[in-house]
Amino acid sequence: MSIIVVGSINADLAVQVHRHPKPGETLMGSGGTITPGGKGANQAVAAALQGASVRFVGAVGNDAYATPALRCLTKSGVDLTGISHVEDTTGLAVIAISADGENTIIVIPGANAWVDAEAVKQHTTDIAAADIVLLQGEIPAEGFQAAVDAATHRVVINLAPVVPVDRDALLQADPLMANEHEAALVLQQLGHEVAEEDSKNPEKLAADLLDAGFASVVLTLGAAGALVATPEGSELVPSPKVTAVDTTGAGDAFAGALVARLDAGDSLLDAAHHAVRVAAYAVTGRGAQDSYPTRDDQLPQV
Ligand code: RIB
Repeated sequence: MSIIVVGSINADLAVQVHRHPKPGETLMGSGGTITPGGKGANQAVAAALQGASVRFVGAVGNDAYATPALRCLTKSGVDLTGISHVEDTTGLAVIAISADGENTIIVIPGANAWVDAEAVKQHTTDIAAADIVLLQGEIPAEGFQAAVDAATHRVVINLAPVVPVDRDALLQADPLMANEHEAALVLQQLGHEVAEEDSKNPEKLAADLLDAGFASVVLTLGAAGALVATPEGSELVPSPKVTAVDTTGAGDAFAGALVARLDAGDSLLDAAHHAVRVAAYAVTGRGAQDSYPTRDDQLPQV
């Protein structure tokens, strides 16, 4: 069984602030370290650390950030033969983390913008051979569509950030993974109106996404856990209670762990029960990939 991630690789420039600045305001902060990130790379590393066999299709630049960006991908044993080194800067994410662990993120795509249809089609054979193709929203829409078109088995999509992509390609997701904010944006992208009260109602959002044509939906609800919804019904999967230090990449830890367990044969619900514990572990450490557990680490209990 194997997973292929077609996605982004970033160098994360993370700063800690007491609170997030208001527009026009200057605040003093700390940190400023460069750590490996990017939603695609984060999810690939999280899956590999949970024991999955993972291949990656993506790109880094020819600058000094390429090496730190690839550090955990290399160490976790992800197959990196599908990564191109292009004449551009490596993707960069500027992340501010407040004292309560919440973050804001600005992404400069750099080399990730090179993961277009032409680049992805060079890996058609590997994508077609994978049991699960895992995608996010940090590569060009044409590359995203080419990956879905090449897939012959399961496609799992975490459209974060929510960018315009081909409707039919998006509806191949099984499951679509999203937080509540992203779920509402996906519904709007599919032409559905989302009432203000519905945008904060996970059950309604999930039901509407199933109605829109997704085979299954997993909504991540932060500290509350996740909602797993299929046409057979929905179930809330509670998260262990932990003290969050840094939520950066927690959703990616969830996505990678979920896919690792699906690939190992778990049901969607069982996979989600494991993934909430991996995500809870991740928020107790700083950084994205650096905070992810291996199979030997003790996960928090619900
Ligand atoms: O989801 C967290 C990730 O978003 C960060 O690692 C950053 O690189 C951005 O892609």
